[in-house]
Amino acid sequence: MAYQFTHDWFSHNIENWRRWLAQFEGKPHIRALEIGSYEGRSTTWLLEHVLTHETSCIECVDPFLDEYYSRFSANIAPWRQRVVLHRGWSGAMLPAIAGEFDFVYVDGDHRPFAVLSDAVLSWPRLKVGGLLIFDDYLFVPYEIDPELSVKWSQEQALAQITKHPALCPKTAIDGFLTALTGQYELVGQGYQLVIRKLADPGTALASLTSTA
Ligand SMILES: C[S@@+](CC[C@H](N)C(=O)[O-])C[C@H]1O[C@@H](n2cnc3c(N)ncnc32)[C@H](O)[C@@H]1O
Repeated sequence: MAYQFTHDWFSHNIENWRRWLAQFEGKPHIRALEIGSYEGRSTTWLLEHVLTHETSCIECVDPFLDEYYSRFSANIAPWRQRVVLHRGWSGAMLPAIAGEFDFVYVDGDHRPFAVLSDAVLSWPRLKVGGLLIFDDYLFVPYEIDPELSVKWSQEQALAQITKHPALCPKTAIDGFLTALTGQYELVGQGYQLVIRKLADPGTALASLTSTA
């Protein structure tokens, strides 16, 4: 099918995604949640390669601004019945989303506090055993270091993140992971980061949930 895309922030992830998401491929009743869909490049890839069963679906949270909404709509048209849109900002939309998901992709607002908020709001919606994928774990805003967008170097990115923690998503993701110590398994770590949710060990300790 001839898609309408103007940007490609996704294709470089395909090799990893094939591996990470193989467990869900073609299975019935798989539910995915995507925060930040833009024109639907990651959405359509998931529908074509992972969420292929007629009972599987994806819920997409994005303001879907006019400039790209029509392209998103045209791109997902073949699967329209299996795509649920939550048209708005994630901070407002996520608390109202019901049910549990097999995997969640966080790729919306990249400011650290927003990434942290998306992670915190979506974690309770993730099934035990489900995957949480963060895009842009090693993202450095263009304005900080334009050279990185021409010639990527992990060493240089990490040095910039250390210098500018309040501007880089890694700060939020690392903080979130520290708070969840023992409650997740690391599945993959590179430019993206993926974890699998384990049962919450804290529920066994009454003193963690009550001060009485
Ligand atoms: C990098 S693009 C997503 C790319 C897409 N996942 C893909 O692979 O093609 C980021 C998207 O997040 C959306 N976005 C930004 N802030 C958001 C927020 N607070 N809540 C939901 N979506 C947001 C933007 O409108 C944009 O469509």
